Amino acid sequence: MHQSLMKPITYRTATEADVTRIAAFHARSWQETYRGIMPDEFLDDEVEEERLEVWQERFVEQMPNRQIILAEAGNQLAGFACVVAGDDPVYGTLLDNLHVSRDYKGRGIGRQLIKQAAQWVQNQDVDSPFYLWVYEQNHPARAFYDSLGAINQERIRGDNGYVLRYTWPNTEKLANLT
Ligand SMILES: CC(C)(COP(=O)(O)OP(=O)(O)OC[C@H]1O[C@@H](n2cnc3c(N)ncnc32)[C@H](O)[C@@H]1OP(=O)(O)O)[C@@H](O)C(=O)NCCC(=O)NCCS
Repeated sequence: MHQSLMKPITYRTATEADVTRIAAFHARSWQETYRGIMPDEFLDDEVEEERLEVWQERFVEQMPNRQIILAEAGNQLAGFACVVAGDDPVYGTLLDNLHVSRDYKGRGIGRQLIKQAAQWVQNQDVDSPFYLWVYEQNHPARAFYDSLGAINQERIRGDNGYVLRYTWPNTEKLANLT
């Protein structure tokens, strides 16, 4: 087993110093997850630059209701979550991104990241519904959200096929995951 896979996972809030590695991690996860969903040309040639721009922007335009949580094994990034508290007047808090690296999937890190994101939202005194968008074709992620009790609320056509809005009626259930 690789050395870092044996290290305990620690969680912390991301800072501006993490921008480059989060962007690279995010781009790689899209390349691995969205092949066949997003265009090959985008995934092969553009996604790294596009994600870097998005992440740089997120730290230039800082929003007090956005939280980014990293999961690390030593100094290696194992996953991250980005959440926007009270994003939508009806659907509430948005889980904007959630990604765990291929090497670390299935070890409870995704569940832990969503739990910590929900706890952060509760600490902001926001007890709202919780929602996210997932590609209809992203079956592993859908199974993950199903296992956490999400409701498949609606299906709409996006730029890369259908996306589903998954919701939870409140933040509490996610904040109290084991
Ligand atoms: C979806 C994702 C975040 C889940 O993270 P993870 O760390 O692998 O998931 P966890 O280990 O915390 O799993 C928690 C529970 O979800 C369920 N689950 C997770 N992955 C699953 C899968 N592929 N199939 C079925 N159930 C799954 C299991 O019930 C698991 O509970 P268990 O450990 O008691 O069996 C991760 O697989 C990932 O990053 N995927 C690629 C990027 C992506 O699709 N992100 C979501 C975009 S909307």
